[in-house]
Amino acid sequence: MNIQLVYNLIILMVLRNTRAKVEEHKISDEEHFHKDGKHDTSYDHDAFLGKGHGHDFDGLEPQEAKRRLREMLKKVDTDKDGFISFEELRDWVDKQRISYMWETLDTNIRQNDDDHDGLITWIEYKHSQFGKWEDAETEIDAKLQARINKSEKKFKLADTNGDGKLSRDEFAFFRHPEESRDEKLQDIAVDEVIDDMDQNGDRKIDQEEFLGQYVDDANNPPDWVLEDRKHFRDKLDKNKNGMLEREEMKAWVLPNRDDTLKETKHLIADADDNEDGRLSFDEVVDHFQTFVGSTATDHGQALRDEL
Ligand SMILES: *[C@@H]1O[C@H](CO)[C@@H](O)[C@H](O)[C@H]1NC(C)=O
Repeated sequence: MNIQLVYNLIILMVLRNTRAKVEEHKISDEEHFHKDGKHDTSYDHDAFLGKGHGHDFDGLEPQEAKRRLREMLKKVDTDKDGFISFEELRDWVDKQRISYMWETLDTNIRQNDDDHDGLITWIEYKHSQFGKWEDAETEIDAKLQARINKSEKKFKLADTNGDGKLSRDEFAFFRHPEESRDEKLQDIAVDEVIDDMDQNGDRKIDQEEFLGQYVDDANNPPDWVLEDRKHFRDKLDKNKNGMLEREEMKAWVLPNRDDTLKETKHLIADADDNEDGRLSFDEVVDHFQTFVGSTATDHGQALRDEL
């Protein structure tokens, strides 16, 4: 293979990956409804079991899938009244949406937590993030100092009980301020993304800045560039002025909780046989294919389709 071509491909891949972008915590990477309007249960399974875990029940016999589902419902039913309310299901779906974020976070906590007490102090974080030199002796340049200061400010905001240490939950909002309900942390999340993408310092993101360092090849742009441009034009740039202003950036950076609400309504509507607005465990189990699925039944369905 042509060395130059390989080289170019690698550069493109690197640019693609270093391009500033928000890690979106979506319910699922699956489409909920296909273009023809056909409903995809994989989306619902991801919503209930966690993104990327929607197929966990696939190999199970229906009876086993139902048994495990019933066990899970005990966790969903946080007030232990034997019913799944709208709020309980909404909170569960929202928790699943960020479940894979926790996997990375827990690894992160283990890496930063020098004294293994499960809490991250500012010094522990600073050492792991910026190196273990001692302040007095080392001349640090102003840019680095500014970054450290910013990070410390965010640390203090995330430390909601003010004990100087971040618990697992506090650390989550420190690393993912966009998931926080605290407006100051949300503002930091938006600012961080703007800082990353804004090249000319006007605090607005135009399409080129949005695409990062990708060098335009008008004749043959790769698919991801076409997709990103379309997304920018159709979805993000609401006032169609070719720029993303702060409010538009905010709408992009902060998680879309509308999806969680829609999905919760959808799941309840699907299983609420007696239409009392909440789900009994039996109603959920009767509709287990909506929530967790199982290949055994898919297989049965396939057989029926064939006949
Ligand atoms: C960082 O914070 C320290 C102490 O709060 C302050 O003295 C210093 O000027 C700040 N440095 C920069 C570069 O922002």
